[in-house]
Amino acid sequence: MEQLTELPIIDCTKINITLDDAEIDDNDLREFGEDIFESFKRYDVTSAVLTNHGISEEVVKAAERVTSELEKPDFKKIAPYFAPMKLGEEFQRKCDIHIDGEDGGIVKHSFATKHGVQLLTKKLMLLKKDKSGDTFNPENGRTLRFVPSLAQVSVLNIDDIIPGFNKAYNALFCESLKLAKRVLTALTFPLHTDRDYFNKMIEDIHTPGENGSALRGNILPKVPQDFPIDDQVVRINEHEDRSIITILHQANVNGLTVKTMSGKSVPVVHKGDSLLLQTGNILARLTSGKLPPTPHSVMGNKEQLQQSRISHAFLIFPDEKVELRCIDGSDTYPPVSAFILLNDLENQDLHGLKH
Ligand SMILES: [Fe+2]
Repeated sequence: MEQLTELPIIDCTKINITLDDAEIDDNDLREFGEDIFESFKRYDVTSAVLTNHGISEEVVKAAERVTSELEKPDFKKIAPYFAPMKLGEEFQRKCDIHIDGEDGGIVKHSFATKHGVQLLTKKLMLLKKDKSGDTFNPENGRTLRFVPSLAQVSVLNIDDIIPGFNKAYNALFCESLKLAKRVLTALTFPLHTDRDYFNKMIEDIHTPGENGSALRGNILPKVPQDFPIDDQVVRINEHEDRSIITILHQANVNGLTVKTMSGKSVPVVHKGDSLLLQTGNILARLTSGKLPPTPHSVMGNKEQLQQSRISHAFLIFPDEKVELRCIDGSDTYPPVSAFILLNDLENQDLHGLKH
């Protein structure tokens, strides 16, 4: 096993999303899938930096522009669209768009259940000094979860509040989905399963209420000038995602750190317009624990903390109706419906944030 100071880099040129499906050979997909699999094993980390993926920088920048609107003070005007949220209250799980923040969280049709989004928000935005334990909990930290199929049928048109929102988020969602599907199809080869295994799992991704795959926009606010920082602090607590895989687009401020399978922290260093691939809880389960989820957190030094940090994560989930079974037939984890597992993971999450 090789020791890491930077994450491995994997070139996506041959499976680039600017290529049509017909232009991609199964051998290229197989080779790409085996490269990812080998990299995970060789470097002891289920995460990699992907280059030449074909997602347009302009699409990422456009999403960043609309996400930055969430920070503006006049954002309060959206409050009438949102039902007040109470900690511990059970919400409707079929989410369209929710926005947490302001006064501990305002939310409509939350995907979160028992523990509420308020806790999620608080944990997500917790800023903690490493050693002293001093904390600063910003009041205006916001995260927005966008599920296009549900946004279409929502009573809220967020374009009325943030012009251009739907176009920008839809574009980044679609390009991220295309890349995620290519990566997942490629992984079917080293996992020795049917080429359409993952595609069948997300058949309902465009049907409202059937699949929670989402693009999440996050803003971590800058800290007050007088906030005492001598060292690195935790901007987002360490957590794993519940997804099959997650694609993390580059943020405007660095600080993302992932952990190897043996627990070593590695800072994420991007090359050009690269992005980050991570594994989630669902893939871990499907692979009988062979590909565990990637623990990750966001750290910040004084300079980084004086800028608001905007980031976008694309999380791909299975359709709720799908029965999740270990691919190797071992039943290391007993078969379970995606709906039940995702709810369970959410409930276990009281002591650790998951996206
Ligand atoms: Fe995450």
